[in-house]
Amino acid sequence: MDKQAQLDKVKAMILEGNVCPDLAAQATNLVMGDGNVNADIVFIGEAPGKNEDEQGLPFVGAAGKFLNEMLAAAGMDRSDVYITNIVKYRPPNNRDPLPEEKKAFWPFLLKQLQIIEPKVVITLGRHSMEYFLPGLYISQIHGQAKRIQFGDHKLVVVPLYHPAAALYNGSLRQTLIDDFLSVPEIIKKLETASE
Ligand code: URA
Repeated sequence: MDKQAQLDKVKAMILEGNVCPDLAAQATNLVMGDGNVNADIVFIGEAPGKNEDEQGLPFVGAAGKFLNEMLAAAGMDRSDVYITNIVKYRPPNNRDPLPEEKKAFWPFLLKQLQIIEPKVVITLGRHSMEYFLPGLYISQIHGQAKRIQFGDHKLVVVPLYHPAAALYNGSLRQTLIDDFLSVPEIIKKLETASE
C-alpha cells in the first residue's frame, strides 16, 4: 500500500474511533496534514485554527504564511516537507489543546511518522515538543538538534518556537527565523554523519 493510502487509513481510524468527540462536534474538518509523504522533514504544530478548520489543511492562516516565508528563506517549499499538528481538530476559540486531547491524538501522530519515516521532526511550539522531548524547556533548547530513539526508529528532533507566538514578537520572531535558517545546515551535518 502506498504511503498516502496508509495515511488515509489513519484518518479513517480517527473518524471511526470517534477521537475527541467534543472537538469533532465543533469542527468543520479533521486536519490530517499536507505536503510530501516521502519528505525527510516533518513539521508538527499545535492544532488547526479557524482557516485550517475551514480548508482542512494545516498552517494556511497568518502563522502558515509566516511558515511559508521561512521555508522559502531556508531554500525549502511546502512540497518538500510534510506539515501536520499534534491535535487534528480545531479547539474552540483557538484555546490551547488540553492534555487529554494531545494524549488522544498522539498515537495517530506516531502512526503518521511511522508511515512517512522522516529523518527530522521539527516541532513548532511547546505542545508538540513536550511529547518528543519531555521535561525540556523550549527557551533553553530551541534550534538544537536532539537525537531520540523512537520505537525501532532513530529520529532527530529540532524544537522551534511556534510561528504564531513569534509573529508579533520582534525578538522571538528573529530567534525563530535564525533557528529556521540553521535547519538546512543541521540536515547537511546529519547526512555527512550517516555517510
Ligand atoms: N497553528 C498550528 O499550530 N497549526 C496550524 O495548523 C495552524 C496554526
